[in-house]
Amino acid sequence: MDSSRVYGSLKTSRTPEYKPVSPSSLPSDACRCPHWHQLALKLSCAGLILLFLSLIGLSVLVRVLVQRPPIAKYSVSTQENRTEPTGGSSTLRCPRDWHPYREKCLFVSQTSGPWSEGLAQCSMKEATLLIIENEEELRFLHAFSKRRGHQFFIGLNYVPVEKIWKWINGSILNPDLVQIMGTNEENSCAVISQTEVFSDFCSADNRWICQKKLKYV
Ligand SMILES: *[C@@H]1O[C@H](CO)[C@@H](O)[C@H](O)[C@H]1NC(C)=O
Ligand SMILES: *[C@@H]1O[C@H](CO)[C@@H](O)[C@H](O)[C@H]1NC(C)=O
Repeated sequence: MDSSRVYGSLKTSRTPEYKPVSPSSLPSDACRCPHWHQLALKLSCAGLILLFLSLIGLSVLVRVLVQRPPIAKYSVSTQENRTEPTGGSSTLRCPRDWHPYREKCLFVSQTSGPWSEGLAQCSMKEATLLIIENEEELRFLHAFSKRRGHQFFIGLNYVPVEKIWKWINGSILNPDLVQIMGTNEENSCAVISQTEVFSDFCSADNRWICQKKLKYV
C-alpha cells in the first residue's frame, strides 16, 4: 500500500512537474515562432512583388529609352536630306556680309588703308583682292561703286620692272578690258570708281573689295 502511495505520489509529483514546463514553454515558443515567420514571409513576399514590379517598370523604361535615340536619329537624317535636295543650288551661298556676283562672293571693306593692307585683309578672309574678268563685271562694279559712294582698291598693280599692269594672280592686264587712267609709275595700284579704273599710290588710303569663290555654307 505504501509503495503504491509512493508511486502515486511520484506520478502525481512528476506529472505536475512536467505539465507546467511543457505547456507553458513549448506552446508559447511555438506560437511566437510562426508569428515571426509569417510576418517575415509576408514581408519578403511583398518585397519580392515590389522587386518584380520595379523590374518590369525598369525594363519598360529601358525599352522606351533604347527606342528613342533611333527615332531622333531618323528624324535628324530625314531633315538633313530634306534640306539638301530642296536647298540644291541655294546651298551655294556667300558668307554673311558678302555679296554674290555670278560665281563669286564679294566683300566690301568698311575700313580703308593702303593697298597692301587690303591684300592682307582679303587673304585673312581666305580671299583675294578683286580680279575683274570681263566687261560685264566691270560695268557691275562701276555701278556698285556708285551705289556705295566709294572707290575701291582692286587686285591690280603696276610692275615697274616689266612696265606692265598685272593682276595679283599673275595675269597681265588686257588693255581691251580696262584702260588705266593716270600715271604708270612705281608703287601704283589700281582703284575702281563709278566711272573709271585709275592709278593711285599704293600707299593711298582707300577701301578695297575682296573676292572668293562661292562655297557651300
Ligand atoms: C540622304 O543623304 C545622304 C547623304 O547626304 C545620302 O547618301 C542618302 O542617299 C540620302 N537619302 C535619301 C533618301 O535621299
Ligand atoms: C587670273 O584670273 C583671271 C580671272 O579669274 C583668269 O582668267 C586667269 O586665268 C588667271 N590667271 C592665272 C595665271 O591664274
